[in-house]
Amino acid sequence: MIAEKIRQMKPSATLEINKKAKEMKAKGIDVVNLSVGEPDFDTPDPIKEFAIKAIHDGFTKYTEASGILELRRAICEKLERENGLSYAPEQIVVSNGAKHSIYNLLLAVIEPGDEVIIPAPYWVSFPEMVRIAGGVPVFCRWNERFKIDMEHLRSLITRRTKALILNSPSNPTGVVYDKEEIDAVAEILLKNNILCISDEVYEKIIYEGRQHISIASHSPEMKKMTVVVNAASKTFSMTGWRIGYIAAEKEIAKAVGKVQGQTTSAPCSISQKAAYFAIKEGEKLYSGMIKEFYNRRNFLIKNLPSDFVYPVPMGAFYLFVNYKDMDSVVLGKRLLEEKFLATVPGADFGADRFIRISYATSMDNLEKTVARLKEFVEENR
Ligand SMILES: Cc1ncc(COP(=O)(O)O)c(C=O)c1O
Repeated sequence: MIAEKIRQMKPSATLEINKKAKEMKAKGIDVVNLSVGEPDFDTPDPIKEFAIKAIHDGFTKYTEASGILELRRAICEKLERENGLSYAPEQIVVSNGAKHSIYNLLLAVIEPGDEVIIPAPYWVSFPEMVRIAGGVPVFCRWNERFKIDMEHLRSLITRRTKALILNSPSNPTGVVYDKEEIDAVAEILLKNNILCISDEVYEKIIYEGRQHISIASHSPEMKKMTVVVNAASKTFSMTGWRIGYIAAEKEIAKAVGKVQGQTTSAPCSISQKAAYFAIKEGEKLYSGMIKEFYNRRNFLIKNLPSDFVYPVPMGAFYLFVNYKDMDSVVLGKRLLEEKFLATVPGADFGADRFIRISYATSMDNLEKTVARLKEFVEENR
């Protein structure tokens, strides 16, 4: 009964591990869950209150398919203010989270057999979404800084190359592209007329004075060839509210709006109001959370045994770790079964010698993590 393309699809590794960790927890085992892909903080109260007011005001009906105008305007103001990018509201489409935004976009632009370059290590859902949209994911190697190997990128480009998915700050590595690196990618894409899908959902979770640079700000030409993807999810700890968006050329935004209009319609009206408030208020709602992520990151960097090696993350809330080149599935399984630490094997991120440790969890849990990893290292000397 089941369609071939769905049978071929891999279930999300993150969700699988989460499930297993929860089962162990239910049996009373003290599992530390380091597999989570969302901030562990609650959505800030003022956002919740704004949403509650929207409910009381009866803002509970269908909205415009591409999202309410006030939210799209607030997104335009944010892009102008924080990214130096000028868009009109008709260039914005609001969807059920960034994941949905990317999926709608791929449906709107991919012809059967079109190639989409995905730099490894990559977020697990990118290749699967490309495949469902009828495209072919093509994986690009990383360099010594865990960023795109430019030579390899050049060699992958064919007549069928339609797009590249750039994700900075990156899930799973936490690396952040600097200006020179963004420029280098932009020049290759422009030369070859390749669309850039720029996933910027971790934009605000960034450390040590680093500045997030959107590739759309490289030049007016690159802005035309970029679809900026962002969300309220990670920045405002609003993963469950399901609000993401794209900013793109009018023609693309219109096509994405058409896909959405005939499939899911607009996202939840109340969540849109909440996201409007969050995006308008901005930094004061999330600065405390970023500081806390930074402390946790530093704690791990300082205390992890030196057998664990990783690129030092400049953004997001993950550490992408290699341990003696051990296979990621074996290592992930052993850490869960022997040390009750739930991580995500890197195999599904296109890097089978790494595991992903999320530090979107309490300091208490991170202290336990360090103690257990030290034991693991000792036991495996
Ligand atoms: C790189 C990346 N893009 C997009 C998403 C999905 O975001 P949303 O919850 O807004 O759909 C995630 C979530 O883990 C992510 O890591």
